[in-house]
Amino acid sequence: MCGIVATIGSRQAAPLLMQGLQRLEYRGYDSAGIATTSNNQLHCRKVEGKLIRLREQLDRSPVAGTCGIGHTRWATHGKPDALNAHPHLDSADEVAVVQNGIIENHRLLRQQLQQEGVCFRSQTDTEVVPHLVARALGQLQGEVAEADLLRLAVTRAIDQLEGAYALAVIWAGLPQELVVVRHQAPLLIGLGEGQFFCASDTPALAEVASTILSLDNGEMARLTPLGVELFDPSGQRTQRTPQPLCGAEHVADKRQFRHFMLKEIHEQADVATAWVERCLYGPPTDHLSPVLDDVGHVQLLACGTSRHAALVGAHLLEQLADIPTTVHYASEFRYAPPPLAAKTLTIAVTQSGETADTLAALTIELERRRSREGLGEPLQLLGITNRPHSSLGRLVPQIIDIAAGLETGVAATKSFLGQMLALYSIALRLASQRHSGVSASEQLIACREGLEQLPEQLSALLQTMDQQCATLAHEFAETQDVIYLGRGINYPIALEGALKLKEISYIHAEGYPAGEMKHGPIALVDQYVPVVSIATPGRVFEKVLSNAQEAKARDARLIGIGPECADTEIFDVLLPIPPVHELISPLLTVIPMQLLAYHVAAHRGLDVDQPRNLAKSVTVE
Ligand code: M6R
Repeated sequence: MCGIVATIGSRQAAPLLMQGLQRLEYRGYDSAGIATTSNNQLHCRKVEGKLIRLREQLDRSPVAGTCGIGHTRWATHGKPDALNAHPHLDSADEVAVVQNGIIENHRLLRQQLQQEGVCFRSQTDTEVVPHLVARALGQLQGEVAEADLLRLAVTRAIDQLEGAYALAVIWAGLPQELVVVRHQAPLLIGLGEGQFFCASDTPALAEVASTILSLDNGEMARLTPLGVELFDPSGQRTQRTPQPLCGAEHVADKRQFRHFMLKEIHEQADVATAWVERCLYGPPTDHLSPVLDDVGHVQLLACGTSRHAALVGAHLLEQLADIPTTVHYASEFRYAPPPLAAKTLTIAVTQSGETADTLAALTIELERRRSREGLGEPLQLLGITNRPHSSLGRLVPQIIDIAAGLETGVAATKSFLGQMLALYSIALRLASQRHSGVSASEQLIACREGLEQLPEQLSALLQTMDQQCATLAHEFAETQDVIYLGRGINYPIALEGALKLKEISYIHAEGYPAGEMKHGPIALVDQYVPVVSIATPGRVFEKVLSNAQEAKARDARLIGIGPECADTEIFDVLLPIPPVHELISPLLTVIPMQLLAYHVAAHRGLDVDQPRNLAKSVTVE
């Protein structure tokens, strides 16, 4: 949540900051700002709204300076307006701070500072920081060497902070220096030619930095035009070798598509092709052996769309591999973890690898498990992510990289497919361990064969479904509520369809297990509430059709997702998918769900890639 960037070197900071912010806009986009230092003065510009407005303001009123910080905000404390936008300044307009995260004890600090006579200009938690830094600078000036002054002032300020945050700080008194610190919110240093950077995420560093350093928790860095100095949490100088940053893969490009989301939906055939080559035909992934060898129970931790992928995975693990599996909302698990059980494999599923709730849940599990290592229990933890170099990657040694490529649209699409496929890999592997040799179960064989066909089927489906959903979207333009039904392995797809529609079109939608309708939600059904029903051949096909009939009998307009056959003639509109094995079907039924949500939102003229109130990476609790 919120993107921060900073730069120092020989080039003008403002254009570099704007370029970095543009690539971080997916993290938040309700307000933005930058500040630079030059000639012992601070120059700050901030606006309510998207970056385009900041750009317009900078065109009218440019800022000079080769050192600067920038921020694109997702509001937590204080409504999204120019006053609450970052950077925040001290009373003398000399210290500027950008922050990503939450300062939890900000109220107490604010009261203390107010008692000392400080006047606050915003309602944010962040504003306490520039005041604390300014106070510390006043105390330290003349006491410590100039090269240590800003760093020690920031250290003194953060000693008083509680919460999870990443900060970048500049001071007019030392216009050729910037200090950054990471405390449980991501922060990377980028090293370019004569120019140094800091950012919340790699896309902001693409094309400007050739190598990166990821700060660890508690680490601080002092950046000057001459280079970067790292300090560990105790303030001692430390060193690490920077890692190469492959630029191209971090640059977002819409290609010929109108929105990133549409492009990313269409990239799913490529995600599947790469997965089939890697996982069905590639060499075995030996690095996972220690965690997957003796599994008695699986628990999956995730949020949002990633949790829906986890639900599909749970169905596979139970039905294909016979392994009891539980899926937890990470936000709930962190405060109520279930009792520990032996041989439990814990899998965190997160596209960004930065979701605060998922990381916190995993950290709790890691600590609980470590305490049992002495009893001879191996640490069975695994992460599934699209960002292997994220915080998740540093927390868990065993990672499955879904390799879906940069996902820019806030609504997750291709990463969802990638996450499901990663869980198919795990389920297939655990199932083969159980049904090895000649006894390989029929389901397992059918599943493998089905997966081999997936790339071709996806590619054809994406071509035909796009137009069908665009046509159908017109009908939804004025709709207030939609019900999504699915059963078995397609129940999570009903949840995902409803989530996609809510997120980007702002239409109320609910996903239900189809058999649950008659226990209450059917009261909502009438001619104004369309019902989208996933009806794919398999164990519950007839049941799903009966549930759909029940809605039709109450005048609902029925939209079906399933193969073209006599049974699916009951639907008013059918979005046809190929007749595949039941266990493969979610990989195809999700396509009309995504395309329908996309076209409804686009038809309503909404900002599909940056829907209101949302952000791509939810790095606050
Ligand atoms: O990065 P993560 O997968 O951990 O993110 C989890 C959710 O915040 C995310 O899936 C969210 O629900 C998306 N906006 C869904 O489109």
